[in-house]
Amino acid sequence: MKILMVCLGNICRSPLAHGVMQHLVEQEGLDWEIDSAGTGDWHVGHQPDKRSIAVAKKYGVDITQQRAQWFQRDFFERYDHIYVMDNNNFRDVTGLAECDEDRAKVRMFLLKDIVPDPYFDENQFEPVYHMIEKRCRELIRELRK
Ligand code: 4NP
Repeated sequence: MKILMVCLGNICRSPLAHGVMQHLVEQEGLDWEIDSAGTGDWHVGHQPDKRSIAVAKKYGVDITQQRAQWFQRDFFERYDHIYVMDNNNFRDVTGLAECDEDRAKVRMFLLKDIVPDPYFDENQFEPVYHMIEKRCRELIRELRK
């Protein structure tokens, strides 16, 4: 199974979802591939935001090896499930879909909410981390069925 986490910059939220999911999947011994991307290209090649690196490290997850990439149309072929953090991400990613099969791969990461962008608010990294961790655990249970 190949899973892609998507946000805007691929430096704050999706690297956390990528790192936490990968960490949990390894703990469970699952042979799943986890990756992340952004709908914007400003940070391509960059490490995650230092505040995301710090909060992940606090909970034992190392995301320092990640490098931001820009979501490309051919990612629809590469991944089975594409999880987006907010409504703009959903619009931008589904806007690149060329068929219903592609569109059907795109889901909101949270079921009934968005993951707020913490980029401009230092205090949001901690709650965002917990939101992401809780949902990653649920997702693993859902996807294993
Ligand atoms: P992310 O946060 O989408 O969670 O990675 C952002 C990071 C950078 C920018 C926007 C959002 N930016 O405009 O540079």
